[in-house]
Amino acid sequence: MSEKRKQVLSCIQPTGDMHLGNYFGAVKNWVDLQEKYDCVYGIVDYHAITMPYKADKLRQNVWDLTLNLLACGIQPESLFIQSLVPEHTELGWIFNCMASYGEVTRMTQFKDKSAQVKAGSKDSFISVGLFDYPVLQAADILIYKADYVPVGKDQSQHLELARNIAQRFNTQFGKEYFVLPETLFTETPNIASTADPTRKMSKSAGEKHWIGVFAEEERIRKQVKSAVTDAGEVEMDEASGERKMSAGVANLFMLLKASGEIETYNEMKKGYNDSSLSYGDLKGTVAEALVKLTTPFREKKAELYADRKNVKRQIQESSANIRKVAQQTLREVKEITGLLNPKF
Ligand code: TRP
Repeated sequence: MSEKRKQVLSCIQPTGDMHLGNYFGAVKNWVDLQEKYDCVYGIVDYHAITMPYKADKLRQNVWDLTLNLLACGIQPESLFIQSLVPEHTELGWIFNCMASYGEVTRMTQFKDKSAQVKAGSKDSFISVGLFDYPVLQAADILIYKADYVPVGKDQSQHLELARNIAQRFNTQFGKEYFVLPETLFTETPNIASTADPTRKMSKSAGEKHWIGVFAEEERIRKQVKSAVTDAGEVEMDEASGERKMSAGVANLFMLLKASGEIETYNEMKKGYNDSSLSYGDLKGTVAEALVKLTTPFREKKAELYADRKNVKRQIQESSANIRKVAQQTLREVKEITGLLNPKF
């Protein structure tokens, strides 16, 4: 008999265009995990409203991200939109009453984000939702009894909170009900901005700091061509006997490797070490590798867009199916906690 596959859950915020940092750092990994695990992936719009936002833009970002994720290879039946599964927020409320004010206050992402809001002064509004966000995240995870949650290191504190809530629930109600989720750390490359390789690729830094997965070929080529490298003076590393590498050059090599061009990567690395490699060639090769990688995604997205009526129906259906799991959990939780279900 085949063993039941482990449950994987992860979520992503609908923040607009997807860049190579998002793709190599998370989405590619999600796609790969589908082979080994039962996966559920959510587009979390309830999380997105914790910061100032516009309704139309939010709706557009959610649909755009749906197309993007499907175009990158996420299976339609694995994908849901959080606001189509409102049980997350109901479980979130129950968890609000099981999380302590003290432990939520310690979350560093809230401290960072609320500092950003303050710095932006005009919109100096810090919502209770922003503070409470990690509790909703715990509900996202526990409602599907996820075994593994693939996330970056910046989320480990939130995962710890989810485990604490699960454990507290199990202890308080004397039942091993919730699965304690584990973080699934996968080695994913940390892609830097090509314009400033000392900072990570991100949209908040401005247009030239990120390369869109769905950008036009010419734009990708142009951005790679203008990548920062070094002035040519590179020291030797005493220990390895190899030439040291600036952050910019290392980032270009990382993009080449992440694109799956391992042979070319090894050749160019050799060229770098014996100083025969020109940065022009390196950039040209990286640009072509990225164009080759992203062209099918761009094409697939256009296809999905042309068929958007069906795609919309499909995501509504998959959300409704995934919702059944969430509803079942919530019925059980209400039973356990003394809250009423419609048929009591
Ligand atoms: N907090 C995550 C982020 O900022 C997004 C998220 C929301 C999430 N709910 C989740 C991630 C549940 C994993 C599991 O990236």
